[in-house]
Amino acid sequence: MEWTPELMEKLTALRGKIESTGQDFETYVDGWQRAQFKNYWDYIQLETLLSLQRPVTDVQDEPIFIIYHQITELYFKLARIEIDAIASAEALEVSDFKERIDRLNRYFGALRSSFGVMEKGMKKSEFLAFRDALAPASGFQSAQYRMIELGCAPVINIVAESKREELLRSSIEEQMEAIYWRDGAKIESTGQPAYTAVQFIEKYWDDFLFAAESYEHCNIWERFCELKRNGLSDEELVSLENALRLLDLNVNVNWPLQHYKTAVRYLSKKPTDIAATGGTNWQKYLPPRFQRRIFYPELWTETQQAEWGKSWVEDVLREIEGVK
Ligand code: HEM
Repeated sequence: MEWTPELMEKLTALRGKIESTGQDFETYVDGWQRAQFKNYWDYIQLETLLSLQRPVTDVQDEPIFIIYHQITELYFKLARIEIDAIASAEALEVSDFKERIDRLNRYFGALRSSFGVMEKGMKKSEFLAFRDALAPASGFQSAQYRMIELGCAPVINIVAESKREELLRSSIEEQMEAIYWRDGAKIESTGQPAYTAVQFIEKYWDDFLFAAESYEHCNIWERFCELKRNGLSDEELVSLENALRLLDLNVNVNWPLQHYKTAVRYLSKKPTDIAATGGTNWQKYLPPRFQRRIFYPELWTETQQAEWGKSWVEDVLREIEGVK
């Protein structure tokens, strides 16, 4: 290899960088000489990753259940990277915003289609054999899922539907008290909070309040409004609104419907359905048409909002694909 002037220039710049902090360049050169080359398994922490499945029973299909939850949590983490990039960008570009919403849509698209791993991937008898050992743990306790919601929309849009109007002008803290999942996770016979929710709130409530307040002026909807105020062409507006509609459907209809279908496959039983590990009245709690969580009501007609979670969704999806 030649010591070309370009290479010398790079080394001089590197030396300058190190010495400008008062450190010794040669110490670094000695360190590099002794450093190990990178390898794939350490770089992606493969061994740690593969050691993170700790079944609590010896039922054969339990690792599938754990692994698919972990895969989903990693996708949630990808989604949060995009949300936080949008929230924290100092001068947000329209193209960057659109690119990041598209990424979010691809992540949720992948999660929706891969949910078949859960829906069809375990024997029902195996699932029922290990699930009782998990109570009261439930995906309900996914903090990342709740963080994603807080980063996507104003809190008022994820307040329990019956309280939205009344709390429209209330503080974030008051609205959070009525967030849909706090309101919905009740034992039907007693009206008491399900223990899965009690545990979850105890662990994460302060973090959720902090997130809700931090995202108040920079959640995805607020940043979209800011871009609109700064001026968007007609074409940009259509393209951003469609991307946001798709996000709303992905997070609040498509994924929840696929999740509900999976719950039905494993928990439905005649004459009475099997109780969920989290203890909610899941048949009423999970279907999107009952909760009607809508991140961006401004982007939907009144009929679409009233019929949220029903069959018109497929038509809208086709339309959005058509004008993309
Ligand atoms: C066999 C597979 C699954 C079944 C039977 C199932 C069942 C349920 C049920 C019944 C609930 C309601 C809360 C309760 O009472 O427990 C719930 C909530 C939830 N589950 Fe699952 N689940 C499955 C897989 C997953 C996976 C893979 C994830 C990914 C992290 C997940 C995430 C969630 C979330 C985020 C909620 C809260 C939904 C909301 O508040 O609207 N679930 N699940």
